[in-house]
Amino acid sequence: VKSIAVLTSGGDSQGMNAAVRAVVRSALFHGIKVYGVQRGYQGLLNDDLREMDLRSVGDIIQRGGTILQTARCKEFTTAEGQQRGAEILRSRGIDGLVVIGGDGSYHGANKLSKLGIKTMGLPGTIDNDIPFTDFTIGFDTAVSIVVDAINKIRDTMSSHERSSIVEVMGRHCGDIALHAGLASGAETILVPEVSFDLNEVAERMKTNFANGKRHSIIVVAEGAARGEDVSQKITELSGIDARVTVLGHIQRGGTPTAADRILASKLGDFAVRQLIAGESGKSCGVIKGELVMTDIDTVVNTKKPFDMDMYNLALRLSQ
Ligand code: F6P
Repeated sequence: VKSIAVLTSGGDSQGMNAAVRAVVRSALFHGIKVYGVQRGYQGLLNDDLREMDLRSVGDIIQRGGTILQTARCKEFTTAEGQQRGAEILRSRGIDGLVVIGGDGSYHGANKLSKLGIKTMGLPGTIDNDIPFTDFTIGFDTAVSIVVDAINKIRDTMSSHERSSIVEVMGRHCGDIALHAGLASGAETILVPEVSFDLNEVAERMKTNFANGKRHSIIVVAEGAARGEDVSQKITELSGIDARVTVLGHIQRGGTPTAADRILASKLGDFAVRQLIAGESGKSCGVIKGELVMTDIDTVVNTKKPFDMDMYNLALRLSQ
């Protein structure tokens, strides 16, 4: 491997910059030329690549967003787009590509790898919906942001004896809701992976209030329901004043936690070393502290298992 490229694609996540830094510095350490692709697959199709040096990734480990910028690219979902992307990389003599992104980005990486480009995927998404890694880059920061927001909401809710519905991101995955819900002591956590009945939720809230609880927090994953709908229904069923906060894109910004920076640094370096070792079409992850690789093809065709033990623990502790 003489020269590689790196891109970030799909929704950005905190720690993507740390991953780009690790890929660039690790490649340069091994004497490999490295190009940054601007704006994900869209930039690849526009041949928008620039050579990176040690200083191009200086002062970014602590920054949210991605210096390479990102995009959701329709054209790259077509066979012609993918073919053209592979040709552009070949014409530049680039023999490896590191793709940092979520599910959609992985599909693109999988296609490129089938077209003969040596490709490595790094799980960069706040959603934690990529299997074969315990955590994705950005998830820890997003959860911390949600927990911090709930702490603040809790102060005012308990003063007014209100309930609060907090809608969080995660697309089809309930992990942000689950982890933030457990860490903030939420009474109820609604996720797409577990069916729920709002009548039961309302009954539980009424009982809790009758037993002296002065407020309650319901965390709703966006993939389970809209916070606004849950609020309306709960107020209708229980008579309890339930206010909604939709946290939205605040969950995707800000400085990455140390855990996300460390994860990104380890994975970025690992991806480069595996390309050098001749690997291709692999997703890099960390499972129980160990760096692991899994075929991207397997990753995109597997649903991440939901941690029911953790869900039940949150329920048991929330009375
Ligand atoms: O995949 C990350 C994510 O933030 C999801 O949690 C959310 O559903 C989606 O992206 C929002 O996408 P956009 O920023 O394009 O509206």
